Amino acid sequence: MCGIVGYIGEKQAAPVILDGLSRLEYRGYDSAGIAVFDGEAINYKKSIGRLKVLENLTRGGLDMPGFCGIGHTRWATHGVPSNENAHPHFNQKETISVVHNGIIENYLQLKKYLEKKGYVFVSETDTEVLAHLLDYYYKGNPMEAIFRMLRRVEGSYALGILFAEHPDTLFAARKDSPLVVGQNEEGCFIASDVPAILKYTRKVTYVDNQEIVKLHASHMHFYNIDEEEIQKEPVLIDWDANAAEKAGYEHFMLKEMYEQPKTVTDTISPRIRKGDIQIEELHMSDEELAAVRKIHIVACGSAYHAGVTGKYVIERLARIPVEVDLASEFRYRDPILEEGAMVIVISQSGETADTLAALREAKKRGFQILGIVNVVGSSIAREADNVLYTWAGPEIAVATTKAYSAQLTALYLLAMKFAKVRGTVGNEEFARLLNCLERLPYQIERLLNTKEQIQKFANRYLAAKDIFFIGRGIDYAISLEGSLKLKEISYIHSEAYAAGELKHGTISLIEDGTLVTAVSTQPELYQKMVSNIVEVKARGAFVMAVTGEDNREIERAADYVVYIPETAPVFANSLAIIPLQLFGYYVAVGRGCDVDKPRNLAKSVTVE
Ligand code: AGP
Repeated sequence: MCGIVGYIGEKQAAPVILDGLSRLEYRGYDSAGIAVFDGEAINYKKSIGRLKVLENLTRGGLDMPGFCGIGHTRWATHGVPSNENAHPHFNQKETISVVHNGIIENYLQLKKYLEKKGYVFVSETDTEVLAHLLDYYYKGNPMEAIFRMLRRVEGSYALGILFAEHPDTLFAARKDSPLVVGQNEEGCFIASDVPAILKYTRKVTYVDNQEIVKLHASHMHFYNIDEEEIQKEPVLIDWDANAAEKAGYEHFMLKEMYEQPKTVTDTISPRIRKGDIQIEELHMSDEELAAVRKIHIVACGSAYHAGVTGKYVIERLARIPVEVDLASEFRYRDPILEEGAMVIVISQSGETADTLAALREAKKRGFQILGIVNVVGSSIAREADNVLYTWAGPEIAVATTKAYSAQLTALYLLAMKFAKVRGTVGNEEFARLLNCLERLPYQIERLLNTKEQIQKFANRYLAAKDIFFIGRGIDYAISLEGSLKLKEISYIHSEAYAAGELKHGTISLIEDGTLVTAVSTQPELYQKMVSNIVEVKARGAFVMAVTGEDNREIERAADYVVYIPETAPVFANSLAIIPLQLFGYYVAVGRGCDVDKPRNLAKSVTVE
């Protein structure tokens, strides 16, 4: 997620903006920029790397005099980190300047439209489209240009906008990306998050969807998308700066869990157009997609677990054989890659050493590499031939949640795309799957709201020695991830087993009171899973089941049942993982563990 700060008032704007951006650094970024109106023109500076570079470039803002400005820290989504792609972006005359947080889903169509009108683009970003569109609609009235621009735009945005011909006004707008505004006796502020302006005011107003704000040095006006002026009430923020970084959540991990509905939406929406799936980043024609005979998925940790889910989903929908490898194994087993095979590497950070090495091994064998990556411009993103970005925004907690969920949805999109071109899924089934996919964010949100129930249950297992996760088929994949989430942050020993494998050894470990989490989301395996639950209960286990709302039978066998809303079985992992994430989180919190930074772990394992 990008950081936005704007100011208009009686103080010099640049130092206020740079200070505000420094309070958003925790969000992660790769470049930064600032634009200030100096009384005649809009001056600007941009730089890649840390904010310090921009501060040095502007001597802490002293070299950018003026009372009205906007600043930005960029988390790249469209276009690698570079000066050209850094915000603010401008129209050609540099009389309109824009900073943006979000994703403009129809930017390609708008870009083509504007290029036909003679507009020349200088960046690869989606944001630059907004600056030229404002220019296109601007006939002297900034608000009219803003309203018309916003009606053409699809996607998410938090915007700060400057018009050189209107230096006494700062404009802002919001849809789906957070934006707050504030005021004190020295001026008015905009920010993508509260920490940026907490030093100046604790009274903030949250801008709601499709609202536009016109800020002056001593007052501000709010409008809805129908151009009607509206009244809004400020709220008093009583968080300290540290809590504010987590938007009031106790840990980044919990905050990022709650961002999952948005990261799933951000990952799927730009790729669903008119009832079909379009993944332009694949750069493969339907014929090339139909010619894929085998898929190798290679990753580490949770990304590997997403790959195991991907195997089940792609094989079930597209009937393409899929092999999933741990990258640390793949890179040393002299892998046999068949003619017509496709290699997919999955990585949140894009810097995991084993996954990068596996990518190079596959490339050495002449194979095209598709990366499913969250960090734009990362090593894996640069070395893969094509990249399907997960757009989950920066993930701060070491234990991945929102990026993992976004990886799952990226794999669902791929599976459905393959199934469509290969004709293995009919139009009706495809439409049904698309509907289920689009409902996932709302269902994830519903499950997140069961956190109190999960916390209560988790508190019963703070002293547990061993906790097992079992599942069959796609539920085995989710058991792997549920087990890792628990053990990596609570330090309780945990294992995931294919439920059918229990009788081949593991069941000897079950003792009186051992917690076994049985994941059962596949209707055709419900009965089998009930037998496995009975099996472990006979050895004294306490069984928590995670299952579909339609599976009431399971209450006869399990001790504690968490139901997930109804969805296509192939997408069930996206829902079943939520109670498991919450369970692991609350066990770790209850045990007083450092949830965001677990011992011995790094967010990105860049060494072997
Ligand atoms: C997951 O919670 C862990 N942080 C870890 O397993 C992680 O998934 C793994 O190191 C892979 O990281 P990557 O996705 O950045 O490549």
